[in-house]
Amino acid sequence: MVIGAIFAGGSGSRMGCSETPKQYLTLGEKPVILHTIEKFYKNAAIDKVLILCPEQWVKPTCTLLEENFGQTDRIAVTTGGQDRNDTLDRALCYTEQHFGLDDQTIIVTHDAVRPFVTQRIINENIASAKRNGACGTYIPACDTIAESADGKNVCFVPERGRMWQTQTPQSFNVRKLQKTLAQLTPAQKANLTDVCAVFTLQDEPVHIVCGEVFNLKITYPYDLPIANALLAAGAGQE
Ligand code: CTP
Repeated sequence: MVIGAIFAGGSGSRMGCSETPKQYLTLGEKPVILHTIEKFYKNAAIDKVLILCPEQWVKPTCTLLEENFGQTDRIAVTTGGQDRNDTLDRALCYTEQHFGLDDQTIIVTHDAVRPFVTQRIINENIASAKRNGACGTYIPACDTIAESADGKNVCFVPERGRMWQTQTPQSFNVRKLQKTLAQLTPAQKANLTDVCAVFTLQDEPVHIVCGEVFNLKITYPYDLPIANALLAAGAGQE
């Protein structure tokens, strides 16, 4: 079974959202999250689409889904967590309890606020997770990256040709992810900023799926007009 897990549990603080998290803001003619869900819903290789959102948004999300997809058992909605790692834990628990797990179960995790993901990216994630156990979506870094330990002085400038920018989806064999997560120390788990780091911390490979420059994550207020321009230009439509 292949699960598409849409992470929509955030509040969008950098967006300055007070009442409406950024994933529910309007892009073109519909909420950002609906663009994203449609990408997964239309992919025949995805057996179930699981949406994890803030508790108070579960009901409005169910209403939105019913209006757009009717009654379907291919989509489920549940509450996300306090932080993104917690939302991942909840996705894994929900999958185990409601969809069932075996050694072949794949989870394709994706940010609700990346509505321009393509079918090519989703398909390559599924194939790679089946083949390699873990993969992420990346593009070559366009800016040179600088490292600073104290936020005041730069201590290292890595070679740009070796740097990649992380996008989503990030996809995993669920049993392998659970096993690898269980091996992390509490300190490693507390400092985890990226799911793929679960594997790299234990010297396990994470395969690269090529992303797209337009696979934008809506983060700051000016990202919304950019996203509207990308939509008008047909980004992510195949
Ligand atoms: N996310 C989630 N659960 C959380 C936090 C984030 O599912 N507890 C999701 C967000 O909804 C988003 C994705 O992870 O779709 C990427 O996170 P980010 O852009 O950081 O979203 P927010 O946490 O909402 O933004 P901010 O950090 O500005 O508050």
